[in-house]
Amino acid sequence: MSAFLDISHIDMVFPTPTGDFTALKGVDLQIKKGEFVSLIGHSGCGKSTVLNVVAGLYQATTGGVILNNREVREPGPERAVVFQNHSLLPWLTSYQNVELAVKQVFGNKMNKAETKEWIEHNLKLVHMDHAMHKRPNEISGGMKQRVGIARALAMQPEVLLMDEPFGALDALTRAHMQDSLMEIQNELNNTVIMITHDVDEAVLLSDRIVMMTNGPSATIGEILDVELERPRDRLSLAKDIEYNRLRAEVLTFLYEKQRKVENISSKKTATTAKKATA
Ligand SMILES: Nc1ncnc2c1ncn2[C@@H]1O[C@H](COP(=O)(O)OP(=O)(O)OP(=O)(O)O)[C@@H](O)[C@H]1O
Ligand SMILES: [Mg+2]
Repeated sequence: MSAFLDISHIDMVFPTPTGDFTALKGVDLQIKKGEFVSLIGHSGCGKSTVLNVVAGLYQATTGGVILNNREVREPGPERAVVFQNHSLLPWLTSYQNVELAVKQVFGNKMNKAETKEWIEHNLKLVHMDHAMHKRPNEISGGMKQRVGIARALAMQPEVLLMDEPFGALDALTRAHMQDSLMEIQNELNNTVIMITHDVDEAVLLSDRIVMMTNGPSATIGEILDVELERPRDRLSLAKDIEYNRLRAEVLTFLYEKQRKVENISSKKTATTAKKATA
């Protein structure tokens, strides 16, 4: 049986003024319907590039993406994206930003009252109902990010693509959003790809953690299955042996196997050079 979402043999080469830069090489990943996959790896390794290819915003140099037996060639409403930096339209209020997406997806399938109720429901989910008539410049960075998440959820996408969605949130809001996301995903069975730098977040939320090697020519290094029972509770997991084993596996991959040696050694060289000239 073919996968619901098939990311197949992706290479991504960017032309740059100093020549071609191979960001991704041979990225291969098959995802089941309803699966929650997180992508983790050091900054600049190519996580957003993978997500952009699945979103249809970038065309891979070789290879491609097949969703539900259809090739992805362009962005589509069945694949909602929450970007690394929020992408709200500045001249619209939070409510209107969500409304634009809802109208685009559901058109006249919802009447006026249903549309209003649906927009408010999604803004409530991310605790933004109190500021729904404010414009992006009147709310904080974390609040903007939450509106971006509400907008994506309101589209009821089959696939939810999230690029560090909770990175700008304070710890309490972040925990609340993680819990809501687990509930929503359990209810709607969306397929999720989420990029994160947070090891605890990856283990808490995922069915699988995809760990990427450092670039250039970044690819998938290891894949970790997270078979912790759901619903998951962060407090009881903190003492769970399997949770802590998984956490240690990701940390080992990032800070031992994929340690950014070149950065550390170049820093040392710079310090040595400084001392030498002092
Ligand atoms: N449009 C582009 N043109 C040229 N190079 C690019 C382009 N987009 C990304 N890159 C390069 O590809 C590599 C991967 O970038 P990408 O944004 O996917 O990394 P990332 O893993 O998402 O990093 P971060 O965690 O910092 O967001 C980087 O070296 C980046 O400089
Ligand atoms: Mg990125």
